[in-house]
Amino acid sequence: MNYTNKMLRDGALKGKNIVVTGGGSGLGKSMTKYFLELGAKVAITSRNFEKLKTTAKELEDETGSVCLPLQCDVRHYDQVEAMRDQVLDAFGTVDILLNNAAGNFISPTERLSANAFDTIIDIVLKGTKNCTLAFGKHWIDTKYENTVVLNIVTTYAWTGSAYVVPSATAKAGVLALTRSLAVEWAKYGMRFNAIAPGPFPTKGAWDRLLPGELKEKFDLAKRVPLKRVGDHQELANLAAYLVSDFAAYVNGEVVTLDGGEWLKGAGQFNLLEEVPSEMWDMLEAMIRSKKNK
Ligand code: COA
Repeated sequence: MNYTNKMLRDGALKGKNIVVTGGGSGLGKSMTKYFLELGAKVAITSRNFEKLKTTAKELEDETGSVCLPLQCDVRHYDQVEAMRDQVLDAFGTVDILLNNAAGNFISPTERLSANAFDTIIDIVLKGTKNCTLAFGKHWIDTKYENTVVLNIVTTYAWTGSAYVVPSATAKAGVLALTRSLAVEWAKYGMRFNAIAPGPFPTKGAWDRLLPGELKEKFDLAKRVPLKRVGDHQELANLAAYLVSDFAAYVNGEVVTLDGGEWLKGAGQFNLLEEVPSEMWDMLEAMIRSKKNK
Protein backbone atom coordinates (compact mmCIF):
# COMPACT_ATOMS: atom_id res chain seq x y z
CA MET A 1 0.00 0.00 0.00
CA ASN A 2 1.30 3.43 -0.85
CA TYR A 3 -0.59 6.09 1.07
CA THR A 4 1.79 8.85 -0.05
CA ASN A 5 0.48 8.78 -3.63
CA LYS A 6 -1.15 11.92 -4.98
CA MET A 7 -4.87 11.45 -5.41
CA LEU A 8 -6.37 13.89 -7.88
CA ARG A 9 -5.74 14.10 -11.60
CA ASP A 10 -3.41 16.76 -13.04
CA GLY A 11 -5.04 20.17 -13.38
CA ALA A 12 -7.88 19.26 -10.99
CA LEU A 13 -7.66 22.70 -9.33
CA LYS A 14 -6.80 24.69 -12.45
CA GLY A 15 -8.61 28.05 -12.43
CA LYS A 16 -9.07 27.99 -8.64
CA ASN A 17 -7.64 30.81 -6.53
CA ILE A 18 -7.01 29.78 -2.97
CA VAL A 19 -6.06 31.49 0.30
CA VAL A 20 -4.31 29.36 2.91
CA THR A 21 -3.84 31.01 6.30
CA GLY A 22 -0.77 29.77 8.13
CA GLY A 23 0.50 28.53 4.77
CA GLY A 24 4.17 29.27 5.40
CA SER A 25 5.03 26.04 7.20
CA GLY A 26 3.81 22.70 8.48
CA LEU A 27 0.54 21.24 7.24
CA GLY A 28 -0.51 24.54 5.63
CA LYS A 29 2.60 24.42 3.47
CA SER A 30 2.02 20.78 2.50
CA MET A 31 -1.57 21.46 1.46
CA THR A 32 -0.49 24.59 -0.42
CA LYS A 33 2.13 22.62 -2.32
CA TYR A 34 -0.43 20.07 -3.50
CA PHE A 35 -2.94 22.77 -4.51
CA LEU A 36 -0.19 24.40 -6.60
CA GLU A 37 0.72 21.06 -8.16
CA LEU A 38 -2.93 20.65 -9.15
CA GLY A 39 -2.85 23.98 -10.99
CA ALA A 40 -4.33 26.42 -8.45
CA LYS A 41 -2.94 29.85 -7.60
CA VAL A 42 -2.42 30.12 -3.85
CA ALA A 43 -1.95 33.08 -1.51
CA ILE A 44 -0.29 32.08 1.76
CA THR A 45 -0.55 34.22 4.87
CA SER A 46 1.06 34.39 8.30
CA ARG A 47 2.66 36.87 10.65
CA ASN A 48 6.19 36.02 9.55
CA PHE A 49 6.65 37.60 6.13
CA GLU A 50 10.28 36.48 5.69
CA LYS A 51 9.30 32.84 6.19
CA LEU A 52 6.36 33.25 3.83
CA LYS A 53 8.53 34.72 1.10
CA THR A 54 11.00 31.84 1.36
CA THR A 55 8.20 29.27 1.26
CA ALA A 56 6.45 30.95 -1.68
CA LYS A 57 9.65 31.05 -3.73
CA GLU A 58 10.47 27.43 -2.90
CA LEU A 59 6.98 26.22 -3.84
CA GLU A 60 6.86 28.28 -7.05
CA ASP A 61 10.21 26.82 -8.11
CA GLU A 62 9.02 23.28 -7.31
CA THR A 63 5.58 23.47 -8.88
CA GLY A 64 5.72 26.19 -11.57
CA SER A 65 2.49 27.73 -10.22
CA VAL A 66 1.84 31.11 -8.61
CA CYS A 67 2.24 31.38 -4.81
CA LEU A 68 1.69 34.82 -3.29
CA PRO A 69 3.05 35.56 0.21
CA LEU A 70 0.96 38.04 2.24
CA GLN A 71 1.62 39.13 5.79
CA CYS A 72 -1.49 38.99 7.94
CA ASP A 73 -2.23 38.42 11.61
CA VAL A 74 -5.63 36.77 11.42
CA ARG A 75 -6.48 38.07 14.91
CA HIS A 76 -7.03 41.56 13.48
CA TYR A 77 -10.00 42.14 11.18
CA ASP A 78 -8.45 45.19 9.50
CA GLN A 79 -5.40 43.11 8.54
CA VAL A 80 -7.64 40.33 7.21
CA GLU A 81 -9.60 42.77 5.05
CA ALA A 82 -6.36 44.28 3.76
CA MET A 83 -5.05 40.78 2.95
CA ARG A 84 -8.30 39.92 1.15
CA ASP A 85 -8.06 43.09 -0.95
CA GLN A 86 -4.44 42.35 -1.84
CA VAL A 87 -5.32 38.81 -3.00
CA LEU A 88 -8.23 40.16 -5.03
CA ASP A 89 -5.94 42.75 -6.63
CA ALA A 90 -3.45 40.04 -7.55
CA PHE A 91 -5.78 37.18 -8.55
CA GLY A 92 -9.03 38.97 -9.47
CA THR A 93 -11.16 36.45 -7.58
CA VAL A 94 -10.85 34.03 -4.68
CA ASP A 95 -12.67 30.68 -4.81
CA ILE A 96 -11.42 28.88 -1.72
CA LEU A 97 -10.46 29.84 1.83
CA LEU A 98 -8.54 27.34 3.93
CA ASN A 99 -8.58 28.41 7.58
CA ASN A 100 -5.48 26.59 8.73
CA ALA A 101 -3.68 29.15 10.94
CA ALA A 102 -3.63 27.96 14.54
CA GLY A 103 -1.84 28.34 17.83
CA ASN A 104 -1.56 25.81 20.64
CA PHE A 105 0.64 24.66 23.49
CA ILE A 106 0.20 22.26 26.38
CA SER A 107 -0.35 23.67 29.85
CA PRO A 108 -2.35 22.99 33.00
CA THR A 109 -5.19 25.48 32.63
CA GLU A 110 -4.62 27.03 36.06
CA ARG A 111 -1.15 28.10 34.91
CA LEU A 112 -2.56 30.12 32.02
CA SER A 113 -2.94 33.88 32.25
CA ALA A 114 -6.15 35.34 30.87
CA ASN A 115 -4.08 36.68 28.01
CA ALA A 116 -2.58 33.26 27.23
CA PHE A 117 -6.09 31.77 26.98
CA ASP A 118 -7.22 34.70 24.81
CA THR A 119 -4.22 34.36 22.52
CA ILE A 120 -5.22 30.86 21.43
CA ILE A 121 -8.91 31.72 21.14
CA ASP A 122 -7.98 34.80 19.11
CA ILE A 123 -5.78 32.96 16.63
CA VAL A 124 -7.98 29.90 16.21
CA LEU A 125 -11.59 31.01 16.66
CA LYS A 126 -11.45 34.75 16.05
CA GLY A 127 -8.97 34.27 13.20
CA THR A 128 -11.21 31.75 11.48
CA LYS A 129 -14.23 33.99 12.06
CA ASN A 130 -12.37 37.06 10.73
CA CYS A 131 -11.32 35.36 7.50
CA THR A 132 -14.68 33.67 7.00
CA LEU A 133 -16.53 36.94 7.49
CA ALA A 134 -14.21 38.97 5.27
CA PHE A 135 -14.39 36.54 2.35
CA GLY A 136 -18.00 35.51 2.96
CA LYS A 137 -19.26 39.10 2.88
CA HIS A 138 -17.25 39.76 -0.26
CA TRP A 139 -18.66 36.69 -2.00
CA ILE A 140 -22.19 37.67 -1.03
CA ASP A 141 -21.74 41.31 -2.11
CA THR A 142 -20.29 40.36 -5.49
CA LYS A 143 -22.66 37.38 -5.98
CA TYR A 144 -19.59 35.20 -6.57
CA GLU A 145 -20.67 31.57 -6.23
CA ASN A 146 -19.17 28.06 -6.08
CA THR A 147 -16.89 29.05 -3.23
CA VAL A 148 -15.54 26.86 -0.46
CA VAL A 149 -14.38 27.36 3.11
CA LEU A 150 -12.37 24.50 4.58
CA ASN A 151 -11.55 24.65 8.28
CA ILE A 152 -8.96 22.62 10.14
CA VAL A 153 -10.26 21.44 13.50
CA THR A 154 -9.18 18.53 15.68
CA THR A 155 -10.76 15.38 17.07
CA TYR A 156 -10.93 16.95 20.53
CA ALA A 157 -13.22 19.66 19.11
CA TRP A 158 -16.14 17.39 20.11
CA THR A 159 -14.63 15.46 23.04
CA GLY A 160 -12.70 18.32 24.63
CA SER A 161 -9.20 17.66 25.94
CA ALA A 162 -7.37 18.37 29.16
CA TYR A 163 -4.16 20.44 28.98
CA VAL A 164 -5.08 22.12 25.66
CA VAL A 165 -8.27 23.72 26.92
CA PRO A 166 -8.07 27.03 25.01
CA SER A 167 -7.48 25.12 21.78
CA ALA A 168 -10.32 22.67 22.51
CA THR A 169 -12.65 25.57 23.30
CA ALA A 170 -11.71 27.44 20.15
CA LYS A 171 -11.84 24.42 17.83
CA ALA A 172 -15.31 23.52 19.15
CA GLY A 173 -16.35 27.00 18.11
CA VAL A 174 -14.83 26.55 14.66
CA LEU A 175 -16.74 23.30 14.27
CA ALA A 176 -20.00 25.05 15.19
CA LEU A 177 -19.19 27.86 12.75
CA THR A 178 -18.55 25.32 9.99
CA ARG A 179 -21.82 23.47 10.47
CA SER A 180 -23.90 26.60 11.02
CA LEU A 181 -22.73 28.43 7.92
CA ALA A 182 -22.92 25.25 5.82
CA VAL A 183 -26.66 25.69 6.19
CA GLU A 184 -27.04 29.47 6.33
CA TRP A 185 -24.74 30.45 3.46
CA ALA A 186 -25.41 27.54 1.10
CA LYS A 187 -27.91 29.84 -0.60
CA TYR A 188 -24.99 32.07 -1.62
CA GLY A 189 -23.21 29.19 -3.31
CA MET A 190 -20.74 28.52 -0.50
CA ARG A 191 -19.77 25.13 0.95
CA PHE A 192 -18.30 24.73 4.43
CA ASN A 193 -16.43 21.65 5.56
CA ALA A 194 -13.78 20.73 8.09
CA ILE A 195 -11.01 18.21 8.54
CA ALA A 196 -10.12 16.84 11.97
CA PRO A 197 -6.55 15.55 11.66
CA GLY A 198 -4.99 13.19 14.16
CA PRO A 199 -1.22 13.08 14.65
CA PHE A 200 0.57 14.50 11.60
CA PRO A 201 4.09 15.44 12.68
CA THR A 202 5.11 19.05 12.09
CA LYS A 203 7.90 20.91 13.82
CA GLY A 204 5.75 23.87 14.94
CA ALA A 205 3.03 21.82 16.59
CA TRP A 206 5.15 19.00 18.01
CA ASP A 207 7.67 21.30 19.65
CA ARG A 208 4.74 22.90 21.50
CA LEU A 209 2.67 19.79 22.14
CA LEU A 210 5.41 17.24 22.85
CA PRO A 211 8.46 19.25 23.91
CA GLY A 212 11.75 17.63 24.91
CA GLU A 213 11.52 14.14 26.34
CA LEU A 214 7.74 13.98 26.00
CA LYS A 215 8.27 12.96 22.36
CA GLU A 216 9.90 9.70 23.49
CA LYS A 217 7.61 9.23 26.49
CA PHE A 218 4.35 9.54 24.58
CA ASP A 219 4.77 7.87 21.22
CA LEU A 220 1.63 9.09 19.47
CA ALA A 221 1.83 6.37 16.82
CA LYS A 222 1.18 3.78 19.55
CA ARG A 223 -2.17 5.42 20.36
CA VAL A 224 -3.38 4.96 16.80
CA PRO A 225 -5.09 1.65 15.93
CA LEU A 226 -3.31 1.75 12.56
CA LYS A 227 -0.02 2.10 14.50
CA ARG A 228 1.39 5.01 12.58
CA VAL A 229 1.18 8.77 12.31
CA GLY A 230 -0.31 10.44 9.25
CA ASP A 231 1.62 11.42 6.16
CA HIS A 232 1.21 15.03 5.00
CA GLN A 233 0.17 13.90 1.53
CA GLU A 234 -2.80 12.04 3.01
CA LEU A 235 -4.08 15.27 4.50
CA ALA A 236 -3.29 17.21 1.31
CA ASN A 237 -5.24 14.63 -0.73
CA LEU A 238 -8.34 15.02 1.45
CA ALA A 239 -8.09 18.82 1.52
CA ALA A 240 -7.70 19.00 -2.26
CA TYR A 241 -10.72 16.74 -2.74
CA LEU A 242 -12.89 18.74 -0.32
CA VAL A 243 -12.10 22.09 -1.95
CA SER A 244 -12.44 20.71 -5.48
CA ASP A 245 -15.62 20.50 -7.55
CA PHE A 246 -15.50 16.70 -7.04
CA ALA A 247 -16.85 17.43 -3.56
CA ALA A 248 -19.61 19.76 -4.81
CA TYR A 249 -22.25 17.87 -2.77
CA VAL A 250 -20.21 17.63 0.43
CA ASN A 251 -21.35 20.42 2.74
CA GLY A 252 -21.29 20.73 6.53
CA GLU A 253 -19.13 17.65 6.93
CA VAL A 254 -16.20 17.15 9.27
CA VAL A 255 -13.91 14.39 8.09
CA THR A 256 -11.75 12.71 10.70
CA LEU A 257 -8.32 11.63 9.46
CA ASP A 258 -6.63 10.03 12.44
CA GLY A 259 -6.19 6.29 11.86
CA GLY A 260 -8.95 5.66 14.44
CA GLU A 261 -7.06 7.46 17.24
CA TRP A 262 -9.88 9.28 19.01
CA LEU A 263 -12.26 6.33 18.92
CA LYS A 264 -9.61 4.16 20.52
CA GLY A 265 -9.60 6.51 23.48
CA ALA A 266 -13.40 6.70 23.53
CA GLY A 267 -14.57 3.08 23.70
CA GLN A 268 -14.87 1.99 27.35
CA PHE A 269 -13.53 -1.51 26.69
CA ASN A 270 -11.00 -0.68 23.98
CA LEU A 271 -8.26 -1.30 26.54
CA LEU A 272 -8.98 -5.04 26.19
CA GLU A 273 -6.74 -4.79 23.13
CA GLU A 274 -3.97 -5.41 25.70
CA VAL A 275 -5.32 -8.86 26.64
CA PRO A 276 -3.14 -11.55 24.97
CA SER A 277 -5.11 -13.84 22.64
CA GLU A 278 -4.24 -16.99 24.66
CA MET A 279 -5.91 -15.46 27.71
CA TRP A 280 -9.29 -15.31 25.98
CA ASP A 281 -9.88 -19.09 26.45
CA MET A 282 -9.58 -18.66 30.21
CA LEU A 283 -11.66 -15.47 30.26
CA GLU A 284 -14.40 -17.10 28.19
CA ALA A 285 -14.50 -20.09 30.53
CA MET A 286 -14.78 -17.79 33.55
CA ILE A 287 -17.63 -15.80 31.99
CA ARG A 288 -19.51 -18.91 30.85
CA SER A 289 -19.16 -20.51 34.29
CA LYS A 290 -21.19 -17.64 35.77
CA LYS A 291 -24.19 -18.38 33.54
CA ASN A 292 -25.87 -20.99 35.70
CA LYS A 293 -25.19 -19.41 39.09
N1 COA B 1 2.61 28.38 28.89
C1 COA B 1 1.87 29.33 29.48
N2 COA B 1 1.66 30.56 28.92
C2 COA B 1 2.23 30.80 27.72
C3 COA B 1 3.03 29.84 27.06
C4 COA B 1 3.22 28.58 27.71
N3 COA B 1 3.95 27.61 27.14
N4 COA B 1 3.45 30.38 25.89
C5 COA B 1 2.92 31.62 25.82
N5 COA B 1 2.21 31.89 26.92
C6 COA B 1 1.49 33.11 27.24
C7 COA B 1 2.41 34.32 27.30
O1 COA B 1 3.09 34.42 28.55
C8 COA B 1 1.41 35.45 27.07
O2 COA B 1 0.64 35.70 28.20
P1 COA B 1 0.99 36.97 29.21
O3 COA B 1 0.96 38.19 28.35
O4 COA B 1 -0.10 36.93 30.23
O5 COA B 1 2.36 36.69 29.77
C9 COA B 1 0.43 34.83 26.08
O6 COA B 1 0.57 33.42 26.20
C10 COA B 1 0.72 35.22 24.65
O7 COA B 1 2.04 34.83 24.35
P2 COA B 1 2.91 35.60 23.25
O8 COA B 1 4.20 34.87 23.09
O9 COA B 1 2.96 37.06 23.56
O10 COA B 1 1.95 35.45 21.98
P3 COA B 1 2.28 35.30 20.47
O11 COA B 1 1.13 35.81 19.75
O12 COA B 1 3.63 35.85 20.14
O13 COA B 1 2.42 33.69 20.28
C11 COA B 1 1.63 31.44 20.69
C12 COA B 1 1.31 32.86 20.27
C13 COA B 1 1.97 31.45 22.18
C14 COA B 1 0.43 30.56 20.42
C15 COA B 1 2.88 30.89 19.95
O14 COA B 1 3.16 29.59 20.40
C16 COA B 1 2.66 30.87 18.45
O15 COA B 1 2.95 31.88 17.79
N6 COA B 1 2.16 29.77 17.90
C17 COA B 1 1.80 29.66 16.49
C18 COA B 1 2.18 28.36 15.93
C19 COA B 1 1.59 27.20 16.66
O16 COA B 1 1.18 27.27 17.78
N7 COA B 1 1.58 26.09 16.01
C20 COA B 1 0.99 24.91 16.54
C21 COA B 1 -0.39 24.83 16.04
S1 COA B 1 -1.12 23.31 16.54
